[in-house]
Amino acid sequence: MEGAYQAALPAKKITVRVPATSANCGPGFDCMGLALTYYNITTYEVTDEPGFKLQVRGEGADTLKPHGRNLAFASFLRLWNKYTGGERIGLKAEMVNNIPLSRGLGSSSSAIVAGLYAANKILGSPYDKETLLAMATEIEGHPDNVAPALYGGFVVGYKDAEGEVHSLKLKIAAPLKFIAAVPERKLSTALARQALPKTVPHADAVFNSSHAALLTAALLSGRGELLGEALKDKLHQPYRAHLIPGLQKVFDAAQKAGAYQAIISGAGSTVLAYAPAAADGAAIGEAMCAAFRAEGEACRYHVLSLDEEGAKAIEP
Ligand code: HSE
Repeated sequence: MEGAYQAALPAKKITVRVPATSANCGPGFDCMGLALTYYNITTYEVTDEPGFKLQVRGEGADTLKPHGRNLAFASFLRLWNKYTGGERIGLKAEMVNNIPLSRGLGSSSSAIVAGLYAANKILGSPYDKETLLAMATEIEGHPDNVAPALYGGFVVGYKDAEGEVHSLKLKIAAPLKFIAAVPERKLSTALARQALPKTVPHADAVFNSSHAALLTAALLSGRGELLGEALKDKLHQPYRAHLIPGLQKVFDAAQKAGAYQAIISGAGSTVLAYAPAAADGAAIGEAMCAAFRAEGEACRYHVLSLDEEGAKAIEP
């Protein structure tokens, strides 16, 4: 039987689109991220019949299951239960998934943000985006993927001394092209985080804070030619390089084919090249994939731009 909140809903069905994201952006470990023009689309329907129903096309069609631990359901219910006090509902989700799983392009963030965003919209938007960001960060652990998934663009996310999450979306002054070389090999974030040391040399911390500042300045001022240096990192990439065969060769191939620089996207395994808007994206993608293939790693690539919109309802 319908509860009071469900009975009062103006619409029980919504379709949301959430962009892929690339976290860390070289030196911005756990705080910087950007949204890409590559999307997952999910239709949610609140039903009377308790339980979960799921249809998946694309990535995860053979592995994602209709249970409450699925992030897309769990995050929807987190917000629904927070607002309604736990009114029982059933949930149906139909996913068209383009974002590859466990490749550092924010597929789990996309599911978290889709669920929270859809539940909030269906309930008439009782919460603002900052609240959604706080909830998404609580689920994900860090804001660098969920913030751009929600807001779009290039976003700096951070926790203050009290542990509260905040974010700032920056306007990139000159458009860039992003080429994602996606190897066949999956890499779990948990494994990639285990590869990190507990402490780092002070000089490396200085290197990264100066490069994160330079990266922000370069993006805000449209000084693309600084990105070759600005995207360098000493906090996570050197410790994860052994998990991605041929990483340095893929970086080198991207630069040789016309990119400013390439970096590990999120925790990997995707490598993302930052290139001038006029660069030949296909040539860069081919060169990066050729370097992966030379290591025995199957690879595909996508030539993308910055998504400026973030999560949005596309129906109704
Ligand atoms: N900042 C995170 C990491 C992104 O590199 O581990 C992946 O969730």
